[in-house]
Amino acid sequence: MTELANPQAQRPDPAGSVDAGQLIFPPGFLWGAATAAYQIEGAVEADGRLPSIWDTFCHTPGRVKEGHTGDVACDHYHRYRDDVKLMADLGLRSYRFSVAWPRVQPTGSGPANQAGLDFYRRLVDELLDHGIEPWVTLYHWDLPQALEDAGGWPARDTAARFAEYAELTHAALGDRVRYWTTLNEPWCSAFLGYGSGGHAPGRSDAADSVRAAHHLMLGHGLAVQAMRAARPDHDFGVTLNLYAVSPQDPAASADVAGDADAVRRIDGLANRIFLDPVLRGEYPADVVQDLCNVTDFEHVRDGDLAIISTPLSMLGVNYYSRYVVAAPAPATEPVEPYWRQPSCWPGSEQVRFVTSGRPVTDMGWEIDAAGLSEILQRLHREYPELPMHITENGSAFVDEVSADGAVHDPDRLAYFDAHLRACHEAIAAGVPLRGYFAWSLLDNLEWAWGYTKRFGMTHVDFDSQVRTLKSSGKWYAEVIRRNGLAA
Ligand code: NOJ
Repeated sequence: MTELANPQAQRPDPAGSVDAGQLIFPPGFLWGAATAAYQIEGAVEADGRLPSIWDTFCHTPGRVKEGHTGDVACDHYHRYRDDVKLMADLGLRSYRFSVAWPRVQPTGSGPANQAGLDFYRRLVDELLDHGIEPWVTLYHWDLPQALEDAGGWPARDTAARFAEYAELTHAALGDRVRYWTTLNEPWCSAFLGYGSGGHAPGRSDAADSVRAAHHLMLGHGLAVQAMRAARPDHDFGVTLNLYAVSPQDPAASADVAGDADAVRRIDGLANRIFLDPVLRGEYPADVVQDLCNVTDFEHVRDGDLAIISTPLSMLGVNYYSRYVVAAPAPATEPVEPYWRQPSCWPGSEQVRFVTSGRPVTDMGWEIDAAGLSEILQRLHREYPELPMHITENGSAFVDEVSADGAVHDPDRLAYFDAHLRACHEAIAAGVPLRGYFAWSLLDNLEWAWGYTKRFGMTHVDFDSQVRTLKSSGKWYAEVIRRNGLAA
């Protein structure tokens, strides 16, 4: 189904090599870091920007930890020049950022707000001046509130609005940006936003969450068609949060077949529900069956899947952790954390998430670098020939500025190191992995967790806005410099 729009991408990928014990990545490997508009920009009322669903959500008492909002965040809107300098000092080859829809089209439709676009032109120019390749994500969760008021992603019209916004942003920046990601993690937009309600807009309706997933993908396909018509030579893709999924240790299991079914269901609802429509033009039959009590899929119209599976030249993979699952919970199971709540896994009543005992990050997410190599190799096997980038990978830990003024974060450094080794392993196994974007350049607003979780390779003091490169950041600069990992 997939076709490579970028002829360069069709060349055989030089596998990573091992040189005197060092793990060397292929020449031209795109080393980067990523951020998202609402998490770092602040300046929520500047230059005509209107509220998005995240402004509304953050300002609704009880929704976000400690009542934190993105009103100021890292004040990147005013400090972008210093931040680009930071990127240049790190030696980044590329920077993945998102454009805020409510800056560019404050009500989600109609003509562009030139002042909003101008900010991104200035940012892109600054990046290019420093030799850093800009990489745009068009939708990192900040739906204009006016569009939510008109029905949000469960409403079909939002897909058309998104394509219009994508076309207009691409027209403004396409002369200097070649890499375009439509959506970031549509699973979160659909199932946390409209299923569990743990993310904006905070609605909780299983059928709406499945409708939202479809309309997000439809918007993605329409957007790629519109942008490619203008510039066929550009790279277009989508970023999915993908997981290795495995059953609990069979030795601990009373129901091995039930555990295998739980794996099938969660793999279906987390991974294949997006991968198959986008890359194969079909919904997985077993997932449709699992969701039969939730929706009749009447919202899927003839021709939608052809649009959704518009060929891509790259796939963005966000990887953080593995899901370990088992057959249904005994009645005594403790209350689950928000990303395991049944309400964000419609049709998965047959599943229990298991804690397997691996070390966890400050988010409580189990660290499993092997899962990254596993998912990359599987993607290459099941959806062949599609170039991939890790568009996010990273970890939250509690970081403090020490008396010596430095921020020592050995756990994050070890996390990056292990996951980059997994990337190298996948490349050596033939996976066309073209780049890696660390999440994140800066500590930032971690959505419903506010500023209580730090993912940055740069520490941000949110009172003074002072940035301090952490030891993981210094280490990453060295990785980029050698294009690989030390022995
Ligand atoms: C994925 C999201 O894209 C990003 O916005 C978020 O901060 C990280 N994961 C960490 O949760």
